[in-house]
Amino acid sequence: MGGRGGRDPVAQEAMADSILIAEDERASAEYLKLLLEERGFEVRVAGNGVEALLALEARPVDLVITDLRMPSMDGFELLSHLAQRWPNLPAIVLSGNDGVEDILEAVRLGAVNYLLKPATPAAVVSAVERALLTRERSVVADATVPELVGTSKAMVEVRHRVLMAARSDVHVLVTGDTGTGKELVSRAIHTHSGLAKGPFVAHNCALSPPDLFESEFFGHRRGSFTGADRDRRGLLREAHQGVLFLDELETLDPVFQAKLLRVIDDGEVRPVGAERPERVDVRFVAATNREAQTMIEEGSLREDLYYRLRGIEIRLPPLASRREDIPLLVRHFDRADSPGFTPEALEALARAPLPGNVRQLRNLVQGARAAAGDTPIGLRHLPDDQLGSRQASVPSGMGSEGVPRGLSLRELERRAIAQALDDCDGNRTHAAKLLDIDRSTLRRKIQEYGL
Ligand SMILES: Nc1ncnc2c1ncn2[C@@H]1O[C@H](COP(=O)(O)OP(=O)(O)OP(=O)(O)O)[C@@H](O)[C@H]1O
Ligand SMILES: [Mg+2]
Repeated sequence: MGGRGGRDPVAQEAMADSILIAEDERASAEYLKLLLEERGFEVRVAGNGVEALLALEARPVDLVITDLRMPSMDGFELLSHLAQRWPNLPAIVLSGNDGVEDILEAVRLGAVNYLLKPATPAAVVSAVERALLTRERSVVADATVPELVGTSKAMVEVRHRVLMAARSDVHVLVTGDTGTGKELVSRAIHTHSGLAKGPFVAHNCALSPPDLFESEFFGHRRGSFTGADRDRRGLLREAHQGVLFLDELETLDPVFQAKLLRVIDDGEVRPVGAERPERVDVRFVAATNREAQTMIEEGSLREDLYYRLRGIEIRLPPLASRREDIPLLVRHFDRADSPGFTPEALEALARAPLPGNVRQLRNLVQGARAAAGDTPIGLRHLPDDQLGSRQASVPSGMGSEGVPRGLSLRELERRAIAQALDDCDGNRTHAAKLLDIDRSTLRRKIQEYGL
């Protein structure tokens, strides 16, 4: 990371380390920003701790520099949030306050260095370079879960929870309607965790015959009962030092739920016919498409098991509540060299009821692609009955292309940009991507239109 001088500017741009400055004094923030940008860093500024957290949720960075005294959320609180959510993200404290108590507290909260204002350029740069050298780059760089497509607030939150789950060692409960991505999320937790090299064993509880529960989960010794003609390891031992994914948890008989709970608490299993128990170290990720509370009330889910498994709960919202993700998902499921969609077809997909959620959307896209071959997918390639009412797709005041009538091209452009910024919560990088223009063009147009 050091020695950035003399690098080819294109490569430098591609590899630029990014820094977030949390600082309420504008002058001080601007000074730092200029100083660091001159050295080739990509710099963003947040006015307080809350803004900094929001900025990080939108896009991760390689390093944070934070002031201590700031309104609404100060640097100490920010540091403790960082330590929880992004434990490998280094943070440097920059403060006008040189009390030794503050320094100790900041270091206790995980700050890797402490700079006193006014800091000389040399001091800032050397602290930054050292902090970047000490971090575990791989962990910071993959602070995202690329297999989970979607930029909606809800999906950003889901990705955060997946990472939190992956980096901790608690058990996880994943809930959501059919087709919302519960299995995908469960696999992602395994992939991004320290157990990635260990097994991921998937089991659908609805498919296990009750009389085989013990041997299925705990395994058995050969000859321990009629038909046991060889040793069986059992799911728990197979998942040792890895993840056991229990799908449709609520279909597991409450009597077996109690036995499972005992294994979770004791970390031991005794295979059928075996003399003594064996230790297992298993991370449980359970999925259900029903409301946990309802299941507990009706007695299909044991409350104690629920609390044990819910170290972290990840709720996957229905696709209809995050329609802004539909265009991205459509692109994701279509062929890489796709000739695309007509605007009407995209519009219809974005408004379809989709009770089968992401799986239904995937099937729609793949079916339509098969029908359309090498031509753009149009309305006629999509099954009418899955699109809901067609009238709703052209609101009054809109022309047949879904565009408001009687506006100048300039006004349309201004609205499109304002809308994109709004949809991306002001994040220009995301808005530029959505609009398919580069960031500098977007910046120019924001100025031009006074947005
Ligand atoms: N956010 C996402 N990004 C990309 N693909 C997704 C996303 N969510 C779901 N999918 C895809 O949608 C399909 C259905 O997902 P998955 O099987 O994980 O759903 P599920 O919640 O387990 O459904 P069910 O309750 O019916 O078992 C899969 O092909 C999965 O890869
Ligand atoms: Mg599933």
